[in-house]
Amino acid sequence: MARITASVYTSHVPAIGAALDLGKTGEPYWQKVFAGYEFSKAWMRDNTPDVIFLVFNDHATAFSLEMIPTFAIGCAAEFPPADEGWGPRPVPVVQGHPELAAHIAQSVIQDDFDLTIVNKMNVDHGLTVPMSLMFGQPASWPCPVIPFAVNVVQYPVPSGRRCFNLGRAIRKAVESFDAPLKVQIWGTGGMSHQLQGPRAGLINRAFDSAFLDRLIADPEGLSKMPHIDYVREAGSEGIELVMWLIARGAMSDAQPKLAHRFYHVPASNTAVGHLILENA
Ligand code: DHB
Ligand code: FE
Repeated sequence: MARITASVYTSHVPAIGAALDLGKTGEPYWQKVFAGYEFSKAWMRDNTPDVIFLVFNDHATAFSLEMIPTFAIGCAAEFPPADEGWGPRPVPVVQGHPELAAHIAQSVIQDDFDLTIVNKMNVDHGLTVPMSLMFGQPASWPCPVIPFAVNVVQYPVPSGRRCFNLGRAIRKAVESFDAPLKVQIWGTGGMSHQLQGPRAGLINRAFDSAFLDRLIADPEGLSKMPHIDYVREAGSEGIELVMWLIARGAMSDAQPKLAHRFYHVPASNTAVGHLILENA
């Protein structure tokens, strides 16, 4: 049977992708960001999974205000990088895993989570920046990816509670797939950031640090935190953090092993947070 071996959590700041694509990683400003991912790239080489289930949010790129799925599972064979206004990023096309994606859709929908099936989607920085951070700049990505898009752009967005329970349903789905696949689940977005309005530039280091502590040690308790707390404490885009609860909910009930933890301010106007948790 397939199983979830580990979860990865990381911010997806688009300027990080631009820094990589434009060859600026050696600049002192960016060195401090990329230093936090040196361990992660080595760890990924040692722990390359068979498939990544990548929870991210689309930023009105593939979707728009015309159509807003709350949860959308990518079942296509491939997902090209999106043009977000400056041409597509020069990164490989993401290869999907239609068989496992279809199985997860079947299992999770029968478990009462109403997923939207997506058979064609370009993926924006929400997905491609985490891939770049964890794999660097290879000619092709080393494993297939199932993109799983969550609406955190237009209210109402799903609660932390629902995200955590969805993670549990995804775990059950993976564990009932009849092939010996090692699957990682990634939660992306965050940490504290607000991109517009009078509070633009908001960073809340204390909130971020407590969020990381609780995500590791008390995810179920953390899942009860209401939206208003995210928005007040972590800024309007800090709500992206609910996606981390999907990945955490998919981990075993036993306490996972913390393989890596990193936090840095600033990257663009935001805080960067990153965790790697391994199932025992
Ligand atoms: C920015 C955009 C994002 O989607 C995000 O999660 C963080 C930062 C930005 O435009 O700087
Ligand atoms: Fe974002």
